[in-house]
Amino acid sequence: MEIKINGKKYAASEGETVLDVCRRENIPVPTLCQHGKLKREAVCRLCLVEIGGKLVTSCTTKVSNGLEIITESEKIKKAREINLELLWSDHAGKCISCKKNRQCEFQKLAEEYKIENFHFVPRRVEITSDEELNLVRDNWARVVVDEENPVIARTTEYCVECRRCINICPVKSYGFNHRGGASVVGTAYNEPLDCIFCGACVKHCPTAALTDQGDLENIVKDLDNMNILAVAVIDPAVLESIGNEFPGVDSKEKLASLLRELGFEKVFDSGWGYEKYVEALEQEIHPRRWLFQKNKNNKHQLIISSFCPSAELYIRKYFPELSGHIAKTLRPEELMAAAVKNEYARQEKIDSGNIRTVLISACTARKKLKSSTLDCIITVRELGRLVRLKKYNPKNIKEVQADKFLNGYDEKYEKMTRFGNLSEILKSDLAIQKANGVLEIKKVLEDIQKRELECDFLEVMVCPEGCGNGGGQSMKISNF
Ligand code: FES
Repeated sequence: MEIKINGKKYAASEGETVLDVCRRENIPVPTLCQHGKLKREAVCRLCLVEIGGKLVTSCTTKVSNGLEIITESEKIKKAREINLELLWSDHAGKCISCKKNRQCEFQKLAEEYKIENFHFVPRRVEITSDEELNLVRDNWARVVVDEENPVIARTTEYCVECRRCINICPVKSYGFNHRGGASVVGTAYNEPLDCIFCGACVKHCPTAALTDQGDLENIVKDLDNMNILAVAVIDPAVLESIGNEFPGVDSKEKLASLLRELGFEKVFDSGWGYEKYVEALEQEIHPRRWLFQKNKNNKHQLIISSFCPSAELYIRKYFPELSGHIAKTLRPEELMAAAVKNEYARQEKIDSGNIRTVLISACTARKKLKSSTLDCIITVRELGRLVRLKKYNPKNIKEVQADKFLNGYDEKYEKMTRFGNLSEILKSDLAIQKANGVLEIKKVLEDIQKRELECDFLEVMVCPEGCGNGGGQSMKISNF
């Protein structure tokens, strides 16, 4: 079929929306609640376009042959501005002190549309009656803050109710509490968040309503402390999105250089840990498998990968009867951190109490691995914030090699370190099954329970496409 956008003809297909065609043809239309393949709720009303003199949301309006669409006009601009202002009126607007300052989709839109007026909520000096004051108090009384969670921090004062978190969460942890004007996004019965911490909600939140919980301030102190040896361990999967935080930082060598500039004395690639992890995993799988075949006269002994902490949480929570099959081996970064605090400290004659190990990770759930050897885990987004806190400009960053760790590692682990793909590294005589994403994992585990599927090793990753698409990755901010 053929449609016209701003007077120009475009080919379109059945089932596409006006926004789909605009995106494909690079015609700018602002959006906030819409994201990728997520369910389209049409709640922000920023993607308005004009069809036959009427304003409609382009994200949900399907194309039809001969449709004529206008994407920019005074009427559209005014409506988008009012809608943005309405959203802003319910937003904290504390940009300067906000964790997401300069990395916030909502802030970017407000700047593009020059939202400077406060027509819908009076400022403190403008409040003249008790009634107005009570209304503002009411508004703030329903702010829910959860700072206790070790992985995800929540505060509804930044929430614009776009529903992305509700739609992306694979275990449906979020929904609306209360009704009408008092409605607020939260957990059921406002209980503390107790999910699988995959971080998809944080990654997709357009504001700072959901952010990484962590101890960046402590890291800054440690980096400035002459008595502390700060050691960064790079999870190579972070290279998939590091360029969103720092355009131009596109290689491990540049990232190593950036970390050195920030004050890390040593920067290690986690390849050595991956190599040891695979060795330990094979030692766990093969003898048990042999014993199992001998005793049970059965072909396969199930071992489930422990690599993805979210997947482990998922199994322990929803399939507890299978949790005994999860591999006991420590994860690569845990092995790395332990070796840094032990072998490396011994080798270099450093008191391990004066070493801080910081993992730069593409995974939010890895924050749960914090221990006496792995001191801090930060995501790509937090590394971005650290760079901004230190006021460092990585524009003309040079390339330096990461430090060699113990004996280095085999290059064949490079791909695995980037995508967490264990199946291709383990010895091939094993019956291996893979499942990515909660839906696939659930199906495979159900099949195993029904004895419709048997395997020696099950590799499970909660983030679709593995760590390259991990919940700790940075998302490119582009509204247009
Ligand atoms: S209403 Fe279309 S993007 Fe929000």
